[in-house]
Amino acid sequence: MTRVEEAWRSGHAAPLVIADPATDDPVGLINLQFRNDDVATLAYSVFPARRGHGIAPHAVRLVAGWAFRDLGLTELLLETDEANAASIRVAEKCQFQRIGSRTALNSEGDEYTRLVFATWWRLGCAGDDAGPRGGASGDVVE
Ligand SMILES: CC(C)(COP(=O)(O)OP(=O)(O)OC[C@H]1O[C@@H](n2cnc3c(N)ncnc32)[C@H](O)[C@@H]1OP(=O)(O)O)[C@@H](O)C(=O)NCCC(=O)NCCS
Repeated sequence: MTRVEEAWRSGHAAPLVIADPATDDPVGLINLQFRNDDVATLAYSVFPARRGHGIAPHAVRLVAGWAFRDLGLTELLLETDEANAASIRVAEKCQFQRIGSRTALNSEGDEYTRLVFATWWRLGCAGDDAGPRGGASGDVVE
């Protein structure tokens, strides 16, 4: 079993492929890592050739809607390198709020700062009617 399958089967994470709705080709990845029954951490990437077209924000909104509405989560976190302007823009576009920062080590052992963002289901990251177990639809990830 691959690590992705194991993560899904164990319930520790929901690793998903972002697919082009017209062709079904994979264009990126998005993952929910569950911390407990209420909180999960979100991470995403879009393949280089497909960046700059709003794919990540759209995927984040859809996954957030699923997480809040169907899974009953109340808080989503995401972390990004403070130098990662594109990822910070995604967080801002999806109405995540910056709640702090922490120092981490990169692969060379050098320190860098990671910004921590959060959103809560009432903020409407996934749309005005998103909420635990009731509201917006959106099963198809772009
Ligand atoms: C961060 C990332 C997921 C954004 O995905 P995306 O689908 O391109 O998101 P958007 O289209 O909303 O673009 C976000 C920002 O990227 C920048 N951007 C625009 N075109 C771009 C391009 N062709 N290439 C790279 N970045 C671009 C812009 O700053 C844009 O913000 P703007 O819309 O306010 O101008 C993507 O850049 C990526 O996969 N990066 C590498 C992995 C990563 O950093 N993941 C985040 C870790 S949590």
